Parts: sequence; C-alpha cells; structure tokens
Amino acid sequence: MAQTRTRKIVKYTLIGLAVALLAIQFFHPAKNVNTVASPQDIAALYSVPDSIHLVLDKACMDCHSNNTRYPWYNNIQPVAWWLNDHISEGKRELNFSEFGTRPPEKQARKLKKLAKEVQEGGMPLSSYTWIHKDAILTEREKSMLINWANSLSEQISSQTKSN
Ligand code: HEC
Repeated sequence: MAQTRTRKIVKYTLIGLAVALLAIQFFHPAKNVNTVASPQDIAALYSVPDSIHLVLDKACMDCHSNNTRYPWYNNIQPVAWWLNDHISEGKRELNFSEFGTRPPEKQARKLKKLAKEVQEGGMPLSSYTWIHKDAILTEREKSMLINWANSLSEQISSQTKSN
C-alpha cells in the first residue's frame, strides 16, 4: 500500500518537472548582441593594442561587453537564464563597450581591479574556462593584461589630476 503511494508521488513529481522543463523552453531572455559600434567603447577612447584586444576578446568580452558569442546550449533553459545572469552581472561591474560612460576615476579604479582579478585568478570565471579552454590565460597573457591595465589606469588618473 505505502509503496504504491510513494511510487505515485514520484511519478507525478517527475511528470510535473518534465512539464515545467518543457514550459520554460518558451521563455528566453533577450540576447546581448549589438551591431552598432559604441563611441564609448574602451578601444575608441584609449589605446588597446591588438595583442590585448585578442586576449580580452577570447576571455572577457562574452560577459563584459555588448556582444556575447552564444554557445549552442544557450538554446536550452534554464541554462540561458544562468548565462544571462552572468552576462548582466558582468556588464554591470564592467562593460568595455560602454567604458567611457563611467567617470575617469571609476575607470581607473576598474582597471586596477581588473589587474587584481587577473593576478588572483578570479577572472575569467572558472565556470567559463571549464568550457572555454582557450580562455584559460597563460602566465604571459596574464602579465600582458596586468601591465596594460595598470598603466592605462595610471594614465587616466594622471589626466584627471592635470585637468
Ligand atoms: C562568464 C562570464 C565572465 C567572464 C568570461 C569574465 N567575467 Fe569578469 N565578471 C563576471 C561577473 C558575473 C562579475 C561580477 C561578480 C564578481 O565580481 O564575481 C565580474 C566582475 C569583474 C570585475 C569587477 C570586479 C570588481 O569587484 O569590481 C572585473 C574587473 C572583471 N570581472 C574582469 C574580467 C576580465 C579581465 C575577464 C577576462 C580575463 C573577465 N572578467 C571575464 C563575469 C565574467
């Protein structure tokens, strides 16, 4: 008796979950894709050497710019929500496409933070490098990024002081 009841509960719970999983496939967050170049892009305002741009592109831009290259599994829910969370949170903290909209002091501080995150291995997120193996930064790429971010940060700070 008790066993059939448990079985029924398990059965209907599974059916309920399957229905919910199917239903959420119809809801997708808007994609983070923009075709218009932003005049506030970091590369439009400051010097970003190609070697740096390459590293940022492969390891950071998916979550820190207005353009994400979506993987196929973004078509599956709730994965799309999870990715979308990372992207909106990442963009809120640092958006290279709209870098110039922040006050210079803030830009300088973010670049210092960037150097620190890369130094400590906090960025890119490990959930990202788990799949995007090419985003695992080599020691050389790390030091390139760190040097660039620190010197740009100092350049911006000294410009604001002289104004
Ligand atoms: C998978 C998405 C993702 C990728 C890829 C990624 N980030 Fe982030 N980043 C985030 C999220 C989410 C946050 C905000 C939460 C946090 O700080 O952990 C963030 C925060 C930051 C911050 C702000 C930290 C602070 O406290 O102000 C910096 C700087 C940063 N990331 C730099 C980078 C750099 C540089 C790369 C590439 C080497 C990178 N991120 C790659 C998602 C990402």
